[in-house]
Amino acid sequence: MTDRRFSVAIDGPSGAGKSTIARAVAARFGFIYVDTGAIYRTVGLAARRAGADPYSARAVEPLLPGLSIRFDYGADGTQRMYLNGEDVSRAIRTPEISMYASAVSAIPAVRAYLMDMQRDAAGRSSVVMDGRDIGTVVLPQADLKIFLTASAEARAGRRLAELKAKGDPSTFDEVLADMVRRDEQDTTRAAAPLRAAADAVAVDTSDMTLDESVERVCALVRERMEAVR
Ligand code: DC
Repeated sequence: MTDRRFSVAIDGPSGAGKSTIARAVAARFGFIYVDTGAIYRTVGLAARRAGADPYSARAVEPLLPGLSIRFDYGADGTQRMYLNGEDVSRAIRTPEISMYASAVSAIPAVRAYLMDMQRDAAGRSSVVMDGRDIGTVVLPQADLKIFLTASAEARAGRRLAELKAKGDPSTFDEVLADMVRRDEQDTTRAAAPLRAAADAVAVDTSDMTLDESVERVCALVRERMEAVR
């Protein structure tokens, strides 16, 4: 392998396993992992705290110039998000903020505001970046693009297990309904909707274990690295 930076874009609907898989793949290759959903979640949290209607561009846009959003990595490699200096890594992981993030992410000014932060991260080192529009908009020149999917039921089941582990009382039906609504919002918005890039490799994880999914993506990365070396 040469010293050139290598970029992997992983897009897909919520709960397809993107973040878990992306983090594991990044660790395997020594790349940094950028969770772009966490960045949108931080804007969602800011809107929530300001009492702004997250569906209203007129309410959310004026907040942006006053925000300071940044991220870094903890000793264990996890991405930590900061809003105006406060570590909000946990606060952004609630079902309410999932919905706020999805709502604010449909506002073009929010997407524009977060673009440089995402591209800068990929300019600094080899990355695995996950989100909804990484292969289509943020890193259209990514070396490898993966569109990760799974059935809505499989995705809701996994998300429920994550929430339960944190003591969240949500039921399967609530999680499934939230997920279907969020997918609908994320795929039908006008600005950078969730869709597979024309040159993305589709990976359906419905019937795969986490280990199998990680191995599949690692195999794709290795193949691609060989091809571009
Ligand atoms: O990946 P996630 O569930 O943490 O993302 C939260 C929301 O942020 C998601 O519903 C849509 C939005 N998002 C986006 O629009 N573009 C991205 N690249 C990542 C997330």
